[in-house]
Amino acid sequence: MIKRIQWQTKYKIGIKEVDLQHEYFALLINRLGSELFLTNSIHYKHRLMEELSLYASFHFISEENMMMKANFPDYKGHARLHRKLLSRLNDQINYFCSEKVTEESIINFLVSWFFEHTLEHDKAFSLFLNEK
Ligand SMILES: [Fe+2]
Repeated sequence: MIKRIQWQTKYKIGIKEVDLQHEYFALLINRLGSELFLTNSIHYKHRLMEELSLYASFHFISEENMMMKANFPDYKGHARLHRKLLSRLNDQINYFCSEKVTEESIINFLVSWFFEHTLEHDKAFSLFLNEK
């Protein structure tokens, strides 16, 4: 069964811009979850993966800039975490593009990956900002 993300208020971390970006992230993953099954074009599937990878890069840089501005003490640690998340994501995308993983498994990976990043890692920054 293919997972989907049902966006809920409880997923918000309390930083408006980050929450907006996360909500769009969820929307994008859900759109990919539908589009990958509606097309037979390998080229289009690869373009969708590229769209996701670029959005993930944008989102992480955006978060890191917010952390930098706020003098978040664990900025470097969080940036390292972002590099690891991005590398895991791009590995999965490469496996998908070389047909080593299926549509279903990449979508399920994306959903778990999304929750790991938003619900676990980003909470630390939110706690810091909201305690300031
Ligand atoms: Fe995030």
